[in-house]
Amino acid sequence: MIKIAASILSADFTNMGDAVKQAQKGGANLIHFDVMDGHFVPNITFGNAMIAALKPQLTKPADVHLMITNPEEQAQKYIDSGANYLTFHIEATKKPEKLIQKIKKQGVKTGISIKPKTPLKTITPLLPNLDLVLIMSVEPGFGGQKFIPTSLEKIKTLRKTIDTKGYKTLISVDGGINAQTIHSVNQAGADIAVAGSAIFQTKNIPQAIKKLKEAAR
Ligand code: DX5
Ligand code: ZN
Repeated sequence: MIKIAASILSADFTNMGDAVKQAQKGGANLIHFDVMDGHFVPNITFGNAMIAALKPQLTKPADVHLMITNPEEQAQKYIDSGANYLTFHIEATKKPEKLIQKIKKQGVKTGISIKPKTPLKTITPLLPNLDLVLIMSVEPGFGGQKFIPTSLEKIKTLRKTIDTKGYKTLISVDGGINAQTIHSVNQAGADIAVAGSAIFQTKNIPQAIKKLKEAAR
């Protein structure tokens, strides 16, 4: 069954501790942190201090999604703040291999994310060393956008490559996931679905997660 990563980007920023508690109570499998720098994407969210602050409350892995330029300069702070998965964008660095090794060496799971218009072939050679690929199914930068349907082909192609080659890389899909879209994302072969607004822009957070899991079947 597909796992759910709850993106706190859409949670109440005045009440993050409770948001995380509710998400974990509802069965979220990971807590997803969207770090944006106002440069790689046109929005600013939070930095490593948010992960450090919430870390003592986490019973699930901290899934950190860096939407920042020069991730190699910032990665260490996120490792030190308690990231369990650390994902950076292929479009944001010229030396992905070096950064993958730096993260892996410290026992942190390593991910690479690709934007909707970036072809899969840019990351295929890196797959043997990656714990996770985060396929963006919206343009990164904001929560609450509409799922881009062509992402499904990307998921299917990547699933095939991973299975054929026998890699262990997980496929995570991020953007526009809701009760209407999660089924096809699951069918296409994703291991993890990241959801923000479908979880936190609701009255009952645990219920929203259960609804997503049911809809995925
Ligand atoms: C977008 C972020 C997503 C965002 C998804 O750039 O990477 O994680 O929180 O939000 P929804 O689920 O509302 O599309
Ligand atoms: Zn994200």
